[in-house]
Formats: sequence, structure tokens, C-alpha cells
Amino acid sequence: MNHVFLIGFMGAGKTSVGRLLAEQLDASFIDLDSRIEAAAGMTIVDIFETGGEPLFREKESAALRAVVRESGGVVSCGGGVVLRDANRALLHEQGRVVYLRVTAGEAIARLAGDGSRPLLAGDAVAMAPALLAARERLYQGAATFTVDTVGLSPAEVARQIVAVLGDAQVSS
Ligand code: S3P
Repeated sequence: MNHVFLIGFMGAGKTSVGRLLAEQLDASFIDLDSRIEAAAGMTIVDIFETGGEPLFREKESAALRAVVRESGGVVSCGGGVVLRDANRALLHEQGRVVYLRVTAGEAIARLAGDGSRPLLAGDAVAMAPALLAARERLYQGAATFTVDTVGLSPAEVARQIVAVLGDAQVSS
């Protein structure tokens, strides 16, 4: 029950903030997407090419189940981790969940030129707002705390998270 899970849309800064937060809390840092890639021996783009989103979601759930068996740490989750009921239940049971909120416009700006998100491949400007709108309720419902990231640097977001987490400890 010692994990801190960072959730939110692509481009919310979960990975950069997670690294800084783990440092500040003296906790281990786990990037769920990297775990998925390491377990599969291929990139996320390749997983989507091989078996589409269903295969990726299977691997994502398996990686999350494995991570929660480890001792606590800061876990940056992929933006779609909230889509499955079972994932949301695990997040809720196994730690505190911080929703890093970002607007679709800001996410698109932050991800400009980055081709590593299959769900935004093609016309990100058209796709991101609808995808974020469809998920917003899930992010909010899963969150223990929400931090608005627009206009803030990763260091500022990490500081806000430390503040909202208060003096509760995360073991590494
Ligand atoms: C996804 C977000 C990505 C990655 C995959 C799917 C999503 O992670 O898990 O491309 O469904 O929003 P980031 O949120 O770290 O970009």
C-alpha cells in the first residue's frame, strides 16, 4: 500500500515528474511503459503493430499486477491504464493515485514531433481532445489527488505532489 501512482493523459509529464518525485521521496521509480517494453522485448509501437491495442492492454495489466507485488515506489503509468476496471481497482487498493491534469492543447504541444504514441499517430490535433474527454471521468474517479500541470515545470509539479502527499512516507 506504499505506491504512489501517477496517472493522466499522454504528455501530462508523468515520467519526468515521477523521476523527480521518486528522488524527493527517496523512493524507487518505476515507469510502467518501460516495464511493458522490457517484458515484451519490443517497443510499444511494435506491440501495437503486432497485436493492436488489445495486446498492449493485456501487457499493461500484467505489468501493473507485477509492479504492485514489489515494495513501494513511484509508478508512472501509461495514459490508458485507467481504461480497465481491474487496473483501477489495483491502483486504488495498492497506493495513492495522483492525477496529473493537462489540457489536450498543452499535451499536443508537449508531444510535438514525438512519434512514440500509437494512439496519437496521424492527426493528434483532431484525436487528442476526444480521447482526453472520453477518459477525464476515469482519471478523476481514480484519483486520490489531482494536480494541474498546465504552465508548471516537472519540478514544480513534483513539489506540489510532495505537498499533497503530506508527511506520508513511501518506502523504496
Ligand atoms: C497510452 C499512453 C502511453 C502508452 C501507450 C498508450 C494511452 O503512455 O502507454 O502509447 O493509451 O494513453 P504515456 O501516457 O506515458 O504517453
